[in-house]
Amino acid sequence: MSQTASPDLLKKSGLAKKLVVANWKMHGNLEKNKVLLAQYIAALSGLKQTKIVVCAPYPYLAQLQQLLQHTNISWGAQNIAKNAEGAYTGEVSAAMLKDFGCEYVIVGHSERATAYCESDENIAQKFVQAKQHGLTPILCVGETLIEREAGLMELVIGKQLDTIIAQHGAAIFADSIISYEPIWAIGTGLAATPIQAQAMHKFIRNKIASIDKEAASRLKILYGGSINPQNALQLLVVSNVDGGLVGKCSLEAQGFEKICAAADMAN
Ligand code: PGA
Repeated sequence: MSQTASPDLLKKSGLAKKLVVANWKMHGNLEKNKVLLAQYIAALSGLKQTKIVVCAPYPYLAQLQQLLQHTNISWGAQNIAKNAEGAYTGEVSAAMLKDFGCEYVIVGHSERATAYCESDENIAQKFVQAKQHGLTPILCVGETLIEREAGLMELVIGKQLDTIIAQHGAAIFADSIISYEPIWAIGTGLAATPIQAQAMHKFIRNKIASIDKEAASRLKILYGGSINPQNALQLLVVSNVDGGLVGKCSLEAQGFEKICAAADMAN
C-alpha cells in the first residue's frame, strides 16, 4: 500500500520554506555577474521565508563564493563528475567543489543529458557522488513531449528515480532536492500548468514515500521550465511544489526578484 507524507511531517522538516534556484547555464562574465549579484543581494536580502541558490558555470564559482558570503544567498555548480577521482580530463569532482565551500549541485539537467548522452545510470552515480561528499544534489527529472503525449511521464520519471533507488535505497533522498523539469517546458516559454505540476510532484513524493516516508518528508521537489514573473505564483502555491528552478528569468534581476517574491508569498 502506498504511503504519503503528512502535512505535519512536511512542516516539521522545514519543507514549508520555499527554495528558488537560479540556473545561469552558460551565461555571464566577471563584470555582468558582479552587477547581477549586487542586484540580487539588494533585492532579495529582505526575504525571510524563501531560500535562494545561484548555480553558475565552474569558473565563476569562486566569484560567487566571494560575493555571496555574509548574504542570505547560497551557491552551487551545474554539474559534477560521476567518479570520485582519477584520469578524467575536464571533469570536476564532488570533493573539489566541497573543497571550497560549494553547497549545491545540479545533476542530470536535460540539456546535459541530451547533449552529452548522460544515461540514468551516469546521473545516479553523480547524485551519489554529491551525497557522499556532503553536497546537496538537485536532481533533474522530466519527460519529453512525445513521452507526455503518449502518457508515459510517470514511467519515465519512475525509471529515473528507480535507477537511484535500486542502488542506494530511497533513504538517499532525505535532504535532497528533485526538480521536476518537463523537457518540453525548458526554455520554450511554455510552462507546465499548475494541474500538470501538481500531478507529477505528487507522483514523485508518493513514490519515495511508498518506500521511505521519512525520506519523502525531507525531500524538496522543485518545478523547473519557463517559470516567469507571471506564472510563478500559480505554480509555486501548488501542493508538493517546494520551489522553482529558474533559467532564463534568473538572468535579469527584476524578473527574478518577482519570482522570489512570489515564492515568499506562496510559503
Ligand atoms: P528556463 O530553464 O527557466 O529557461 O525554462 C529552466 C531550467 O533549465 O531548469
